[in-house]
Amino acid sequence: MTNRKGIILAGGSGTRLYPITIGVSKQLLPIYDKPMIYYPLTVLMLAGIREICVITTPHDQDQFKRTLGDGSQWGIELTYITQPSPDGLAQAYLLAEDFLDGAPSAMVLGDNIFFGHGLPEMLEQAGRQTGGGTVFGYHVADPERYGVVAFDSAGNVTEIVEKPPVPPSNYAVTGLYFLDGSAPQRAREVKPSDRGELEITTLLESYLHDGLLSVKRMGRGYAWLDTGTHASLLDAGNFVRTLTERQGQQVGSPDEIAFQMGWITKEALLDRAKVFAKNGYGAYLEALAMGRG
Ligand code: DAU
Repeated sequence: MTNRKGIILAGGSGTRLYPITIGVSKQLLPIYDKPMIYYPLTVLMLAGIREICVITTPHDQDQFKRTLGDGSQWGIELTYITQPSPDGLAQAYLLAEDFLDGAPSAMVLGDNIFFGHGLPEMLEQAGRQTGGGTVFGYHVADPERYGVVAFDSAGNVTEIVEKPPVPPSNYAVTGLYFLDGSAPQRAREVKPSDRGELEITTLLESYLHDGLLSVKRMGRGYAWLDTGTHASLLDAGNFVRTLTERQGQQVGSPDEIAFQMGWITKEALLDRAKVFAKNGYGAYLEALAMGRG
């Protein structure tokens, strides 16, 4: 049992997906058969984290509450916090300071989707680390769109740069950050960047300068999917559909993970199956509860 708490950052304006996100939060859009936020939520659950805060814009909070509830259906505890304006990723640690109450955390961006064999073990390992921070570097074709890791000739991390016009490597920092209890205090030192945001990369640099940041490479066997454009959103949905239909197994199901973790009983899973009685997800949960999964 970990004392690490989770943060899902699901605010922002979603302007890149207009007109879709004029009326609905990006992180509630469907990725095939589930709301986008289910995927990062299950990443935290796989890391063994049961106390999670969901940060949203003030006007979207009700929809998130309706979608996720208080978490008890999954044996977890969800707390909702609002971010009045999208002032940067590092601000999440200031908003969540009371919730964290000194505990180490794992923050995941509400629009980041991870998939891969061995992911639970990788998450568990990062969660076990005491002191400092762990982030993941992922090889991408277009690093200039992300926070990018610079390495020296010995392969040590020397710098993390936000959206560099000339990227020092192809390794992007994914939107999953395991940080120790000093994150809120360090976030207070972060000054707004030229684009007026409290950048997560500046916070990571604070750990790096203190020799406290570990950058793990997430290998090519993992999928870290982008949902930032209309095309990549559709691609992510098709990816999940392909896997789900080919394997007959769910991707990003909090119900399944809660049951596997032993956080909910068979009866509770059967109750959940009834909610989805009209589609294949309900049948899937029922089979799982009956040991036919
Ligand atoms: O996805 C990983 C990348 O996420 C990292 O490589 C970058 O270092 C990091 O800055 C971030 O880059 P993005 O350009 O993707 O950040 P974006 O502004 O799109 O925000 C990411 C998500 O966080 C998005 O779903 C909206 C949400 N968000 C963003 C901001 C700035 C908030 O909830 N609040 C905010 O203040």
